[in-house]
Amino acid sequence: MKSWLPLLFAVWLSAVSGNNDHRANNHHHHHNNNNNNNRPNIIFVLADDYGYNDIGYHGSQIATPNLDKLASDGVKLENYYVQPICTPTRSQLMSGRYQIHTGLQHSIIHPEQPNGLPLDSPTMADKMKEAGYATHMVGKWHLGFFKDEYLPWNRGFSTFYGYLNGAEDYFSHKKAFSDGKEYLDLRDHKGPIHSEDGHYSTHLFTEKATDVVRAHDASKPLFLYLAYQSVHSPMQVPGEYKRKYDHIQDWKRRFYAGMVDAMDEGVGNLTKALKDKGLWDNTVLVFSTDNGGAVGDGGNNFPLRGGKGSLWEGGMRGVGFVSGGKLSASGSVNRELIHVTDWFPTLVGLAQGALNGTKPLDGVDQWDTINRGTPSKRTVLLHNIDPLNHKVGAPLYHDTFDTRVKAAVRVGDMKLITGAPGSGEWVRPPGRKRASGSGHHTSNDKNVWLFNITADPTEHHDLSDHMPGTVRTLLGHLQRFNQHAVTPHYPPEDKRSNPALHGGVWGPWQ
Ligand SMILES: *[C@@H]1O[C@H](CO)[C@@H](O)[C@H](O)[C@H]1NC(C)=O
Ligand SMILES: *[C@@H]1O[C@H](CO)[C@@H](O)[C@H](O)[C@H]1NC(C)=O
Ligand SMILES: *[C@@H]1O[C@H](CO)[C@@H](O)[C@H](O)[C@H]1NC(C)=O
Repeated sequence: MKSWLPLLFAVWLSAVSGNNDHRANNHHHHHNNNNNNNRPNIIFVLADDYGYNDIGYHGSQIATPNLDKLASDGVKLENYYVQPICTPTRSQLMSGRYQIHTGLQHSIIHPEQPNGLPLDSPTMADKMKEAGYATHMVGKWHLGFFKDEYLPWNRGFSTFYGYLNGAEDYFSHKKAFSDGKEYLDLRDHKGPIHSEDGHYSTHLFTEKATDVVRAHDASKPLFLYLAYQSVHSPMQVPGEYKRKYDHIQDWKRRFYAGMVDAMDEGVGNLTKALKDKGLWDNTVLVFSTDNGGAVGDGGNNFPLRGGKGSLWEGGMRGVGFVSGGKLSASGSVNRELIHVTDWFPTLVGLAQGALNGTKPLDGVDQWDTINRGTPSKRTVLLHNIDPLNHKVGAPLYHDTFDTRVKAAVRVGDMKLITGAPGSGEWVRPPGRKRASGSGHHTSNDKNVWLFNITADPTEHHDLSDHMPGTVRTLLGHLQRFNQHAVTPHYPPEDKRSNPALHGGVWGPWQ
């Protein structure tokens, strides 16, 4: 009945993605006269909850001219994976390590939890700083703040301007404590910022990022991590950005479209600042989402299955591209398997930094595949193993990985999902009809799925009954990963975190 869907997807994908080749762009000549040994400026822009179907070049109803232009001048990553939610992706980006190795396997870091990215391994920013980069961060941290040691300016960033929690009001920059009272979460590395009430964060963070660029002393290379609040809930945007989307009936989608529009403009402004400063030719800019779109909050991942929080492709197959004058590839689409942990060795390598002093990395250096189209060094990708998630059904086998546990692994073309992966609907952009076939029925104790993601990226054809040998092989991968997983660290909430006890501002409490 629905076997045409993957084919349709493939046709659509090639139609919207353009050229398939990796062409070295021979007319790019780089003139790097500054005394930084030719090391590129590295700009990492992370969007929050930005869906697969929400960027122009994926055929979205939302126009993103600046992002589209950057991506088409660079390399679109079309087999690129992040984690299903905020803290996990950020933790892997900053550490180069899977969650099973940091103890952050489960959920996010909640505001009142005394938790953080472990201090036992340097962050990407630590390594950039060690390599002589000027390191700056603007935007959302979400990697823990209960003690000073966990704050971004103690983890490799010389300057910080942004917020520490996962979500807040875009205008007041306030976040509620569990008693419902709202407290400021906006600060720089010197202290709380009380003066920006009413200043929309997409504008504010873009201005701070462009300030960093303008003030940058070009005798050093620059590492800038801009982690936008956009386009996470709450649905908030100045009216002028959503006016062009008045035709979208669903109010959340309408607001979301406006929020994307503002972010796209912000990335355009940042690019312009880099060009005006003369840095662009020696810059590598990475753009990535942190996870799939939240379909209940305006985001969309169609035709992928599921969304934010799930181990389906819609939760993890992320929007991502690389651009900038320092890239030799131009106008290409990369279909090699690349994961968010790979940025650590890739970008530290590009910075000619050293990887000494880290705990074993799970990422691999992907610069050659991004820049020259060579095959990915990665064939296996552990999406996650979450032993604290509720268990489902009965174990399929007793001598290998317990299929009641929420987990997923990719080996080559094949992906195995176990446990309770989260909602697996195919959701079309709001305002249109649901995809036919979304009313799939699976029994309540089903806990194993197998897909050939290369042939079936939309996960319509569960092969677990047809390929029991492959199921066992992939369970063996999960079992081996699980043997060296650390115990999840997910402490109870600590009421001493109440900002009322700390000057009415979110911040360290221990
Ligand atoms: C981008 O720059 C223009 C011109 O300075 C400004 O009007 C606009 O608000 C900026 N947009 C964002 C998102 O910062
Ligand atoms: C890496 O090695 C350099 C040079 O020996 C040293 O200064 C630096 O502290 C080391 N970094 C880490 C994180 O161990
Ligand atoms: C997965 O599908 C691709 C594309 O159809 C095919 O080339 C490949 O052999 C399949 N892989 C496996 C393991 O069946």
